Amino acid sequence: MTTTSNILIIGGTGLIGEHISNAIVAARQHFNRIALFTSANTIFTKSAFVDGLRAQGVEIIVGDIHLADDVREALTGIDTVVSCVGRAVIAAQLQLVALADRHPDVRRFFPSEYGTDVVHNAASAAELPHQAKLRVRAALTETKDLEYTYLVTGPYADADRGLYLSASSPENEAGGSFDVRRKRAVLLGDPAAQINLTTMRDVGQLVVAALLHPVESKNRALLCNSFTTTPAEILAEFERQSGGEKWEVSVTDLPALKRLEKEAWARGEARAVPLSLRRIWTEGGTLYEKERDNGVVGMEEGVESLEVAVGRAVRLQMQ
Ligand SMILES: NC(=O)c1ccc[n+]([C@@H]2O[C@H](COP(=O)([O-])OP(=O)(O)OC[C@H]3O[C@@H](n4cnc5c(N)ncnc54)[C@H](OP(=O)(O)O)[C@@H]3O)[C@@H](O)[C@H]2O)c1
Repeated sequence: MTTTSNILIIGGTGLIGEHISNAIVAARQHFNRIALFTSANTIFTKSAFVDGLRAQGVEIIVGDIHLADDVREALTGIDTVVSCVGRAVIAAQLQLVALADRHPDVRRFFPSEYGTDVVHNAASAAELPHQAKLRVRAALTETKDLEYTYLVTGPYADADRGLYLSASSPENEAGGSFDVRRKRAVLLGDPAAQINLTTMRDVGQLVVAALLHPVESKNRALLCNSFTTTPAEILAEFERQSGGEKWEVSVTDLPALKRLEKEAWARGEARAVPLSLRRIWTEGGTLYEKERDNGVVGMEEGVESLEVAVGRAVRLQMQ
C-alpha cells in the first residue's frame, strides 16, 4: 500500500474519536474520500458534531458495528479503516478485522489503541485491561493480507473525563488528581519518575501522520508521545499557571496504588480498569527502551508541550 485515499472512521464521535476525525478532516486535501460509520443513536445524541463533519464533506454512514451486512457495505471503496471504538466494544473489532480482511477493497486497519503499550514487558500479557486489545492484535497478524498500524500514545495529557490531568472527587483522589479549584494534587508513585504523555490533539495529528506515511507505519506499533515529564513537573506547571501559590500535595505510592487497584477489581468497580492503567503508568509502562517513534512518521516536531497541555487543563477545569 503506497497511498491512503479512502478512509472509513469507526467510533469517530467518541472521546478520542472526535480528535481523530477532526484531524483527518483538517488534512482532507490528502485524501479522496472520508467516511464516518456511526450508530443510529449517535446521529441524534451527537448531531452537532456529526452535522459539522457532514458539512465538511464527510460521508455519514449509519449502521451497527455488530451487523456484518452494515459493515461490509460501509467498507466498499475503502482502503483504510481507522477504528476508535470505546473500551466496551474493543472485542467487536475481531469481526471488523475479519470482514476487512475478506473485503477486496480494504488494505490497512488501525485498531482502537491510542493508549498504553499492551506488549511493554513480560507482565503485559496478563494485564486485565489489555486482553481485548491483545486479541485484536493477534487477529490482525493472522489476517491474509490486511496491513495494520498500532498507534500507542500512553496516557492523555488532558483534563476531560477522568484523564491524567483531571481533578478527582475527594473520595477518589487517592487514584491521582490535579485539582485546580482546590489547589490540591495527589501524585502517583515517585514524584521524580518520568512519564510520557500525549495530548488528545496530538493523537489526532499522529494518526494523520501515520496515514500519510503508509510505508513507514506498515505492520508495526508506533510508540509516540507529546512530551516526557514527571508528576513533580506537572504539579509545578499547574502551580505556575494557577496563580503561583504552592498547592496542597499528597502522594499515593506504588504499594498503596496496588491496594486500591486490587480492592476495585474485587468489588467489581468501574474504576478498576483506570486504576490498573494508572498503576502500569506509575511502574514505568509509558517509557520505552528505544527512542519514541514520532520521527518515523515525520512528527518529531509539532507536538504539544507540558505548558500547553496544562494551560488547556486549567481552562477546562475552571469552566
Ligand atoms: N490513553 C488514554 O489516556 C486513553 C483514554 C481514553 C481512551 N483511550 C483509548 O481510546 C480508544 C477509544 O476510547 P474512547 O474513550 O474514545 O471511546 P468512547 O468515547 O467510549 O467510544 C467511542 C465510540 O465507540 C462506539 N461505542 C462505544 N461503546 C459502544 C457500544 N457499547 N456499542 C457500540 N458502539 C460503541 C461509539 O461509536 P458511535 O456512537 O459512533 O457508533 C462511540 O462513540 C480506546 O482504545 C481506549 O482504550 C485511551
